[in-house]
Amino acid sequence: MDQAIGLREMMNKTKRPLRVIGVASGKGGVGKSNISANLAVLASRAGMRTLIIDADLGLANVEVLYGIKPQYHLGHVLEWGMPIQEVIATGPEGVRVLPAGSGIQSLTRLDDAQKLKLVTALEQLEDSVDLVLVDTGAGIGDNVVFFIGATQEALLVVNPEPTSLTDAYAMVKVLSLQAGTRFFNVVVNCSPNDGQAKDIFQKLSNVASRFLDVKLRFLGWVPRDENVHRSVMAQQPIVMSFPNSPASRALNATAHQLFSEPPPYSLDGGMKLLWSRLFKDSHQAQNAPAVVAG
Ligand SMILES: Nc1ncnc2c1ncn2[C@@H]1O[C@H](COP(=O)(O)OP(=O)(O)O)[C@@H](O)[C@H]1O
Ligand SMILES: [Mg+2]
Repeated sequence: MDQAIGLREMMNKTKRPLRVIGVASGKGGVGKSNISANLAVLASRAGMRTLIIDADLGLANVEVLYGIKPQYHLGHVLEWGMPIQEVIATGPEGVRVLPAGSGIQSLTRLDDAQKLKLVTALEQLEDSVDLVLVDTGAGIGDNVVFFIGATQEALLVVNPEPTSLTDAYAMVKVLSLQAGTRFFNVVVNCSPNDGQAKDIFQKLSNVASRFLDVKLRFLGWVPRDENVHRSVMAQQPIVMSFPNSPASRALNATAHQLFSEPPPYSLDGGMKLLWSRLFKDSHQAQNAPAVVAG
């Protein structure tokens, strides 16, 4: 609790521009959804108006981790034109949730028209949220590149398995080359200790900065903790169900590190600029008049 109060006091001192953070990993099952769901609760506790977007479209993990059963999901916005405000559900501790909807095949690969609809819908939320966390699915699919490319900063989750590290590097590579993502926060999940977590980060950082134009920052690490599994079973984020467990303490420290510093670059143009960025190249060419009138 002390940590939450400290974080809240710190947040109140600074005027906060909208911040959008995408959570990615490469390999699945490394803890993205749990880390996103818990960071969202901690951000909300710290006074940020927080929206978590479940971008693992078609699978709907976040609502399960939160133990909520939203009536609507993103499909209702994209397919049936429902206003996004009506689709957003309430999660624990005031966190707002844009649900992914499960078993929705049409969302597993968004087409350009759907992406544009999503961008337009999200622009409307700009004034009512301080923080958007985007929990993406596994792999380096089109949706993941789109969502992370549209965020200001990526939060990369890795675990000590060698495959996690190679997949994380592949993810950094694709995101930097295809989406222009330059800044990556790294969280090492399921590490046995601080030293090993830093070793893993260093390996990834060395390779990435050698071959790519990117900057990686060690944000924190979370130990393997049976309470994570228990909290998943209980459908309540671990920072709520086991607030003093080793993983919860580590998540608090990670949140503190993440939210105590301003984003690596501010969002001058607001959400509109951000979410529209990816469309510029593909749509500008088509929409630009062939000759300038007048
Ligand atoms: N720090 C941890 N300690 C123990 N088990 C964990 C930890 N983080 C994740 N897990 C386990 O891994 C599973 C997958 O996590 P999840 O967040 O769904 O991964 P992802 O979203 O990357 O696919 C969880 O259900 C949980 O049982
Ligand atoms: Mg997940």
